[in-house]
Amino acid sequence: MEAISPLRCFTHLFFGLLLIISLSSRYSALNHAEFSLNCTNYSPWCTSKNRIQSKSNLILDNPKPEPFDHSTNTPNHPLDPLTVQEINKARSILLAYPPFVASLPVIHSLTLDEPDKSRVVKWAKGNHLPPRKAFVIVFIHGQSHMLVIDLGPGRVISHVVNYKLGYPILVTDDWSNALEVPLANEEFKKIIASRGVEFFDLACVPLATGWYGPNEEGRRLIKVQCFSKQGTVNYFMRPIEGLTLTVDLDKNEMVSISNTGNGIPIPKATNTDYRFKVQNKPLNMIPVNPISMEQPKGPSFTVDGHLVKWANWEFHLKPDPRAGVIISRAMVRDSETGKLRSVMYKGFSSELFVPYMDPTDGWYFKTYMDAGEYGMGWTAMPLILLNDCPHNAHYMDAVFATSDGKPYVRSNMICIFERYAGDIAWRHSEFLPSSSEVRESRPKVTLVARMAASVGNYDYIIDWEFQMDGLIRIKVGLSGMLMVKGTPHQNTNQVAEDENMTGTLVSENVIGVVHDHYVTFYLDMDIDDSDNSFVKVNLVKEETSPGESPRKSYLKAKRNVVKTEKDAQIKLKLYDPSELHVVNPNKQSRLGNPSGYKVVPGGTAASLLDPNDPPQLRSGFTNNQIWVTPYNRSEQWAGGLFVYQSKGEDTLAVWSERDRSIENKDIVLWYTLGFHHIPCQEDYPIMPTVSASFDLKPVNFFESNPILRAAPNDEKDLPVCRAATSS
Ligand SMILES: *[C@@H]1O[C@H](CO)[C@@H](O)[C@H](O)[C@H]1NC(C)=O
Ligand SMILES: *[C@@H]1O[C@H](CO)[C@@H](O)[C@H](O)[C@H]1NC(C)=O
Ligand SMILES: *[C@@H]1O[C@H](CO)[C@@H](O)[C@H](O)[C@H]1NC(C)=O
Repeated sequence: MEAISPLRCFTHLFFGLLLIISLSSRYSALNHAEFSLNCTNYSPWCTSKNRIQSKSNLILDNPKPEPFDHSTNTPNHPLDPLTVQEINKARSILLAYPPFVASLPVIHSLTLDEPDKSRVVKWAKGNHLPPRKAFVIVFIHGQSHMLVIDLGPGRVISHVVNYKLGYPILVTDDWSNALEVPLANEEFKKIIASRGVEFFDLACVPLATGWYGPNEEGRRLIKVQCFSKQGTVNYFMRPIEGLTLTVDLDKNEMVSISNTGNGIPIPKATNTDYRFKVQNKPLNMIPVNPISMEQPKGPSFTVDGHLVKWANWEFHLKPDPRAGVIISRAMVRDSETGKLRSVMYKGFSSELFVPYMDPTDGWYFKTYMDAGEYGMGWTAMPLILLNDCPHNAHYMDAVFATSDGKPYVRSNMICIFERYAGDIAWRHSEFLPSSSEVRESRPKVTLVARMAASVGNYDYIIDWEFQMDGLIRIKVGLSGMLMVKGTPHQNTNQVAEDENMTGTLVSENVIGVVHDHYVTFYLDMDIDDSDNSFVKVNLVKEETSPGESPRKSYLKAKRNVVKTEKDAQIKLKLYDPSELHVVNPNKQSRLGNPSGYKVVPGGTAASLLDPNDPPQLRSGFTNNQIWVTPYNRSEQWAGGLFVYQSKGEDTLAVWSERDRSIENKDIVLWYTLGFHHIPCQEDYPIMPTVSASFDLKPVNFFESNPILRAAPNDEKDLPVCRAATSS
């Protein structure tokens, strides 16, 4: 058994299981969770006292902040995630539930079953919470079951079996089972030895299989590929190319071994390590001094449980094992009346699609749907203080349920901070006689809620950024490691003319394979109320009649209220542009314009795969950049509730084909951020972050510029910490 331990240990590290194991110590550690930063003593406000940022003293005007203790935490908003106590309760109800008394099934998901929208919208602070319910997905005897548990009376109130294709999200047991099967396999051991890899240097990863025809139906399968971690932590750069194992996840048996990589060397470990402490070459640039943004009067936002209040914004923020982060009840204060107005009921990254562009044996199946297969929250590690988030950040933990229904705390999974990046919110200068000179400018300060998932090799940074002018920017950053392919080539001059290289040579014997990333966001916009319409504002060229004007042509904005779903399936076109508005037709501005928000596209790569290619069928939600559907609480996961090995029977593309009416109804907007990635040498051994974003921007929502009365910065309010050795 000696050989098993390194792999076991590896799976633990890889998937953060260590966090689960260290749960109990986390509880005791929480009371000491504040971290202090030593600061220089040059400025009157910069003392060690006010430099301490901790969870408990963030809300400065709260004289007796609650100690941060998950074990006794109680929900105080209808959308608050299940607490430690509630998860424990749900587990004991399941243990006593007659169909499961013989053995507790594997719990693939145990989260809050959100109350109906109407109840949440009516709820006000001080009211009783609506009944707390848990939505549970379990897998037992080859079947997925969906249960709803009413935590009040403590009973199962709904129990449905899934008969469609597709399995629930993988759990950590699946990951470790998949990696243990090969260890008992003699053929695998022989291959590893023949490739010159010592057993204890093996690093294997479980890879979602996708769906490629009826042969793969009826059993849960997973592919396993292995790397050598000898001499590096960055084993992803050292693939044992061409070795792919297919494992039956429930029978724990090897289905097949494909070994086509003989003759392909394992790329060297040299220069693959990305850790700061092992870098031993000169930086070759002028070093940049430590930097941070200071807030001498403390942060301007408060976090009360999961409710965030900042400037004119208020929203509910929570971690989710599948989506990562969910923003709910986003409301902005009207600049004229001071009233809070609804903008978005719920927004989150609903599904991802990451197809690699290599049809060969060890690569064709790499077409991941990371939210439904692995979970953006499950794979989000604690954020790295001062580097993932700035000095002035506040952190939020996640409480998730493990596959045996026990709660565990993922600490510091989300951070919230105010950002001042030196940008301008608005400005103007006038050349006038100096007595009446006009010089007006306002700094742009925003509020960011951030998480970062490490889904195997890749890292996804998801930011929700709120601006005081009402704009919400949703940004996705990609970093981490490329998924690379081993090759005998060391230089492009060795590559034959007719060879189908599916990527770029990024290092000796390493190809960075071309791939795409799509992140599809669910955006339940509720502009002022739930009944909204989707309006295409087309820009069309008008031609003047002869003699009418010195101009031959001009552009005109033509409004088109969309009636049904199919008409809202939008493929963006540079030469046939439209603004895309979600408006409330029942709420007009003082001038009669409907109150609205528009989606401002960015990150517009579109999937070019054949629509009948199996991965594209499964990820049909990327067939268009924008969709609008009527609100339906069962239609939130763009790739379906059961994504693993699904073949696309329950996707946004299928729902939208029903062509339901979407005019003056509660509607949901879907936006896909897309990236094509042709790797380059700079992406090796770890990729500098690539980002793309899209915006939700008010249109005729406010009566006039909502930040007209925002104050400028003044030198006297901003003491500066002087550097220790300023010249
Ligand atoms: C802060 O600096 C002082 C003096 O330089 C030192 O004694 C103290 O240990 C430091 N505190 C921390 C938390 O680093
Ligand atoms: C390259 O791909 C094409 C199309 O799939 C195939 O016909 C051809 O045989 C391939 N060439 C090599 C050298 O594998
Ligand atoms: C709501 O969604 C489910 C799942 O797609 C579907 O079966 C049901 O018909 C939908 N309801 C309406 C009213 O469209």
